[in-house]
Amino acid sequence: MNTNKLIIAGIFSLITISTMNAQKKPHLDKKKPIEERIDLLMKQMTLEEKVGQMNQYNGFWEVTGPVPKEGNAELKYKHLRDGWVGSMLSVRGVKEVKAVQKIAVEETRLGIPLIIGFDVIHGYKTLSPIPLAEAASWDMEAIKKSAQVAADEASAVGINWTFGPNVDVSHDARWGRVMEGAGEDAYLGSKVAIARVTGFQGDTRADLAKINTIAACAKHFAAYGFAEAGRDYNTVDISNSRLYNEVLPPFHAAAEAGVRTFMNSFNILNGIPATGNSFLQRDILKGKWNFDGFVVSDWASVREMIAHGFAKDGAEATQKAVIAGSDMDMESYLYVVELANLVKSGKVKEALVDDAVRRILRVKFELGLFDDPYKNCDEKREKATIGSKANNAGVLDMAKKSIVLLKNAPSPLGRAGEGILPLQKSGQKIALIGALANDKNSPLGSWRIASDDNTAVSVLEGMQQYKGNQLTFEKGADLTVGKTAFVDELVFNTTDKSGFDAAKKVAASADVVVMVLGEHGFQSGEGRSRTNLDLPGVQQELLEEIYKVNSNIVLVLNNGRPLALPWAATHIPAIVEAWHLGTQTGNAVAQVLYGDYNPSGKLPISFPRNVGQCPIYYNNYSTGRPTNGEGNVFWSHYTDVEKTPQFPFGFGLSYTTFDYKNLKINKTAFAKGESVVVSVDVTNSGNYDGKEVVQLYIHDDAASLARPVKELKGFELINLKKGETKTVTLTLTDKELGFYDNDGNYLVEPGTFKIMVGGSSDKGLESGFELK
Ligand code: BGC
Repeated sequence: MNTNKLIIAGIFSLITISTMNAQKKPHLDKKKPIEERIDLLMKQMTLEEKVGQMNQYNGFWEVTGPVPKEGNAELKYKHLRDGWVGSMLSVRGVKEVKAVQKIAVEETRLGIPLIIGFDVIHGYKTLSPIPLAEAASWDMEAIKKSAQVAADEASAVGINWTFGPNVDVSHDARWGRVMEGAGEDAYLGSKVAIARVTGFQGDTRADLAKINTIAACAKHFAAYGFAEAGRDYNTVDISNSRLYNEVLPPFHAAAEAGVRTFMNSFNILNGIPATGNSFLQRDILKGKWNFDGFVVSDWASVREMIAHGFAKDGAEATQKAVIAGSDMDMESYLYVVELANLVKSGKVKEALVDDAVRRILRVKFELGLFDDPYKNCDEKREKATIGSKANNAGVLDMAKKSIVLLKNAPSPLGRAGEGILPLQKSGQKIALIGALANDKNSPLGSWRIASDDNTAVSVLEGMQQYKGNQLTFEKGADLTVGKTAFVDELVFNTTDKSGFDAAKKVAASADVVVMVLGEHGFQSGEGRSRTNLDLPGVQQELLEEIYKVNSNIVLVLNNGRPLALPWAATHIPAIVEAWHLGTQTGNAVAQVLYGDYNPSGKLPISFPRNVGQCPIYYNNYSTGRPTNGEGNVFWSHYTDVEKTPQFPFGFGLSYTTFDYKNLKINKTAFAKGESVVVSVDVTNSGNYDGKEVVQLYIHDDAASLARPVKELKGFELINLKKGETKTVTLTLTDKELGFYDNDGNYLVEPGTFKIMVGGSSDKGLESGFELK
């Protein structure tokens, strides 16, 4: 046979096989609507097979939580073959995914494909900045693109589903997981949630079937970011007002953007663990919001209801979780053991199991897994995609956009009236100090399960690209002193100062000292809460020692959370917030330091003056005694430090300056339902082209519930050439002007509103209007 005939014969036999398949397994008929295909499949399923779909096992490699001793690898394989596993997580690479998928599809009775989940939190192997840093870009297009890069790589290694985005609003820098979210604000957080969901999944549900999209997961539902005292997994006790107005909106936005899955959370809410919480999962998510995807538990959170004291044993935990709407059990090893019996004994209605299974199958059908279970298992594509040039360019772009310039005080080293930054490109002696400057691992940040160690471009490497200056590196002091036996956890906080002298020597003879200090990438993230927000180890001492010999310091911060650095904020002339920026860290930092990229980031979370101010956030409520009008002590304040943050939400400088003028509102009084159109002229009044995030805040003067002193309700990122002026128009509608009452009803109340427009939450031009 010639090649053409071979191809034609091949196509015919494929068609014949798929027709035969469709006859034998009618749910494989692509032409039928998904709901009908689900009906056809579910009719054939035994109770045990249905429960199997609700069971998720960790792969045999990565562990992101305590492992139940009952479920060993051998048993997991057996369950896989029995068709008792619907999903696996943290299986990585085409070869490994193919191996487990093959068992599910080819060795089980019904051949239902697995859905493979993974924590693709800020990229798979080519890493973007940590999510908190990305949020600092306020650039929704860039954030969406970054999620697309992550989906591209993840889908190329067999992954169908990411456990992200994390949309937890948090007010507490002590909580290690602030690095995973979009910061402290529900409005910004909602926009970021939409960008990430559509970046992972595509813009429509049909896009899920594409080769380079993956299902997203809004987590952790709900209120996990309000763990008391910032201690991970701790008790949450919040008001309804906070729940409805601050916690739920980003989840709601994700649901409206079509997110296909939710993950519940480890915490209790009103005494009920989220995993066993019908109010959250059934009444709000699946009821009010009409969510038709599925809910996965967090790691072992079904079993943890026993430790919470909410279930007496595994059977009761299972019963409560399923009744409350937790559709899939991640690694508790409970549904698979208990659920069929609970149904048989009448303690759980089979209809609830059917509903959960239908939701899970729906997402599998939408992903196209029944049509081609190996759609993400192409080794050639895997090779071509991972670490591609385009993906590296994508994460570099995101990294530059995530950097926030916190301080750049006028300095004799800068141009007239300007700060040290941007650095001059030639003729300078630069001392680069700090172990983190020469670290290729830490910049990858937390949640980087699949990336290889030491694959980030270090700041040293980035700065070495600029050859016009004389660059000398000295670490000064280490940050890490070794590893523990358990999962290679790093041990931090060396006390060794033996490198100080060498560092002081190079600093003393330099024109400019660049110091890279802060937290290691693994000092934030899950389980990594802190009670101090200082520079860990001897870094603060190092900073002060260097300052004594040369005060021309540019401090480049690496951190996964806000740090409280009052001494640095006062003494150090230039401070750059560089978070953990991922694979391209060094290139991004160097391009910003040298002015090839003018920083434009704005903080998505407040930086306190000291840890005692936590929780601190811009959209707080007024007390009855907000100011010291009478000059006495009886007003809401601290006696030892100002109550304002060191660096507020929305704050971030540029190498240029922006002037705001002509704030206008189209009318002074509005009827409900009318749009309030706000405009302002913004001029680039400095010496560089630049970008500015124009922010609109409102305050509802008097309402049936006290409203925050300020609330972000609009923003726009604009490009302005040096000397250019643009008029920016932002619109407020009922969607922005109302709020939720304590029963979750949305109210738009008449009254007067103040507005403020500017480049930060702490100051701007002010005006007001009335809603009749
Ligand atoms: C985390 C989740 C994560 C899961 C799977 C849990 O410990 O809370 O955010 O998706 O592990 O790794």
